[in-house]
Amino acid sequence: MDCHLVEQMIMIKPNPNIAAMAAYSLPDISAAEGTEAIVLAQNEHAFPPSLRVREAVTAALDRGHLYPDSDWSELRAAIAEVHHLDANKIVCAAGSMELMSTLMLAYMSAKDRLLMCEYGYLFMRTLARLAGADVDTAAEPNYRVDVDALLSELQADTKIVFIVNPGNPCGSVIHNDEIRRLRAALPDDVLLLVDEAYAEFVDEGFHEPIFDLVEQGNTVVTRTFSKIYGLAGLRVGWGYFPDEIRDQLRKVLNPSSVSVLSQVAARAAMQDQETANQARTQIAQQRDYLFTQISSLGLTVVPSQTNFILVDFVSSDNAASAFAFLRNHGLVVRPMGGYGLPACLRITIGTGEQMQLTAETLSAWQDLQLG
Ligand SMILES: Cc1ncc(COP(=O)(O)O)c(C=O)c1O
Repeated sequence: MDCHLVEQMIMIKPNPNIAAMAAYSLPDISAAEGTEAIVLAQNEHAFPPSLRVREAVTAALDRGHLYPDSDWSELRAAIAEVHHLDANKIVCAAGSMELMSTLMLAYMSAKDRLLMCEYGYLFMRTLARLAGADVDTAAEPNYRVDVDALLSELQADTKIVFIVNPGNPCGSVIHNDEIRRLRAALPDDVLLLVDEAYAEFVDEGFHEPIFDLVEQGNTVVTRTFSKIYGLAGLRVGWGYFPDEIRDQLRKVLNPSSVSVLSQVAARAAMQDQETANQARTQIAQQRDYLFTQISSLGLTVVPSQTNFILVDFVSSDNAASAFAFLRNHGLVVRPMGGYGLPACLRITIGTGEQMQLTAETLSAWQDLQLG
């Protein structure tokens, strides 16, 4: 078609909230030319799915011509059994991101406000923008969620308060008593959304489940199979919801978004707590190793209870230089400028070999700096 005509065509207009948004883009996580990338940028699990998960998925291929169970009955039963929960309050989706999107679609409108932490998970800001809602942020001193800071930013029209525990990108944990204090101080009609995507990595004794808050009716807890269960590519998340909120979500949620294969994979992974426990131990060992190695270079590492660590390089120039050096050695980590932490890099915990290579490469970078 003549491009003159295309220019004159009256195009359909997108929703103004969407038109005003920048295009979706992930930071470049490709390897430098001539190197094979080890990607430590997305907090993916260090290990591929277990044999048990593979066998379950292979067997389920026989049901690949059928639509998935839109009630996720067997998966919910497995989750409820492991976590001692009421299966009726569990909702599953294609990743916890889908649960958050659906929750925001169901509850957030223009003129409402979302309150979250300064360095909180960026996806929630995108969702608020989609809804035309405003976002308020609370300071995160020492890279930790601060309940008093959150409460001081509460507005009359705050509708949802969002926290991630343990946090991404900081990796720190706040005690459940603090979350209970936050909930108690919030008005009843403000929803508290607690994203626990990394909860299974937390060392024993550091973190008790907080699902009982859901019983009060105004708190939601989300979890995922993308992290400790290693199923990020299969897209399964779940959440624990008060009945009323669950019913609203179910109206909006795509009933077929969790495929037959994803449901059986998640169920098999949930039923295999031994593998999850081993993974927790292995990741913690590697995290401690990398923490010690990087700290010994004189860099500040935020103590983490997750499968990643946040390293503070003091200046954005230093962080950019370390990022480029690592990338030239085939190690792709995550720059943190988008999170308001331009002097930091976030490094996903991988295998022992990968962590040794990361530590050695950073040490070589440090030697170059010192000269
Ligand atoms: C804090 C947090 N919440 C949720 C997610 C997304 O989880 P899912 O893969 O279940 O959508 C991530 C992924 O990195 C995350 O860091």
